[in-house]
Amino acid sequence: MGSVSDDANDRNLGLFSDLEAPSINDGVVELTFKSSKQDGYPVWSENKSKLIQQYVRFFILVTKHGTYIDGFAGPQVEQYNDESWSAKRVLEIQPPWLRRFILCDMNPRQVEHLDKLVADRRALGDKRKIEIHRGDFNTVIEQVLVPGSIREKEATFCLLDQRTFECKWDTVRKIAEYKKTNTKIEQFYFLAVGWLGRSIAALKDDKKLREWWGRDDIELPRSTSHSVELARLFSHRFMRELGYASAAAWPIYERSDGGRGKVMYYMIHATDHEEAPKLMNRAYKAATLASQPMEHTQACFDGEGFDLGDIAKRYDANE
Ligand SMILES: C[S@@+](CC[C@H](N)C(=O)[O-])C[C@H]1O[C@@H](n2cnc3c(N)ncnc32)[C@H](O)[C@@H]1O
Repeated sequence: MGSVSDDANDRNLGLFSDLEAPSINDGVVELTFKSSKQDGYPVWSENKSKLIQQYVRFFILVTKHGTYIDGFAGPQVEQYNDESWSAKRVLEIQPPWLRRFILCDMNPRQVEHLDKLVADRRALGDKRKIEIHRGDFNTVIEQVLVPGSIREKEATFCLLDQRTFECKWDTVRKIAEYKKTNTKIEQFYFLAVGWLGRSIAALKDDKKLREWWGRDDIELPRSTSHSVELARLFSHRFMRELGYASAAAWPIYERSDGGRGKVMYYMIHATDHEEAPKLMNRAYKAATLASQPMEHTQACFDGEGFDLGDIAKRYDANE
C-alpha cells in the first residue's frame, strides 16, 4: 500500500478546478441556480440515486478507491425502477474503483432484489467484494464496524436512506466514531421531512421517536413544524455532537412542477473534507441535468480540474 505518487497526484488533482462552494445558510443549502433546461432543475426524489452516484464517482476519481455502505439498500418500491435504485447505480460507477460494498436490508423480499443485483453484477464479470446483510441495520452495524474491518485510510461512504424513523441516532453516532485517527466515514443521511410531522403524530408511543432522535428532548422534533428548521437541527447535531467538519442539508423535491414542488427530504451530507461540499455542489447540479449521460458530465469535468489536494493527501490511493 503506497501513497499517491507525485505524478498520480498531479493527474488526479488536474481533474477538477474552479469548483464553486455551495451557498450554505446555517447548515441548510440554498440553491443559487434557476430551474431551466440549461441549468437543470432541483433534485427530485427519483434523482436522489443519481446525486449519490455522481458524488461518489467524483470523489473516487481522486482517491481511486473506496468502500460503500448502504444501510437501507433495497429498492424504493417493489416494482423498482432500475434508474432510481442507489445500490445499483453505485455498483455501476465507472471506473470501478470502489472495491467493497456493504449492503443491508431487513425485508426478505428486498434482500432477494439485492441478491439478484449481485448475480447480475457477477454475470457481467464484476469480481469486487459485495456483501449482503439481512437484518436490522441498527444491529448489523455492530458486525460491520468491528475493529480493523475498514482501514483508517479507506475512503468510506455511508448512505442512510431510511423511509422515516428506521435509522437510530445511535447508529449514526457509531458510524461517526468508527475511525479513530483519520477522516470520519462520510454520511448521507436522509431526513424525510415531507411526511415526518404526520408520522410523528401517528406514533403510538415515544420509543421509536426517542431512538431515532437519540436524545430525551423529543419535544424538540415534535414541535418543530418548519422542515427547514428540523434540517438545520440535524446539520448542527452532525457537527456539534458528532464532530464533523461540515454538515449541510441538501433539499430533494417532489417531482411535480419540474421538481420545484415541496421538499420531500433533506439529504444531510456530513464530511470532514474541506472540498467535499464543493464536490457535492457539482454533483447536485449534474444530477439535475436529467437527460445528460454520465460520460458527458465526466467529459466536462475532465477539462476543468480543481484543488483536491486535501482529499488526495489523506488517502493512500493507487494500491
Ligand atoms: C427508502 S427504502 C430504500 C431505498 C433505496 N435506498 C433506493 O435507492 O431505492 C428503505 C429500505 O429500508 C429497508 N428497511 C426498513 N427498516 C430497516 C432496518 N431497520 N434495517 C435495514 N433495512 C430496513 C426497507 O425494507 C426498504 O427496502
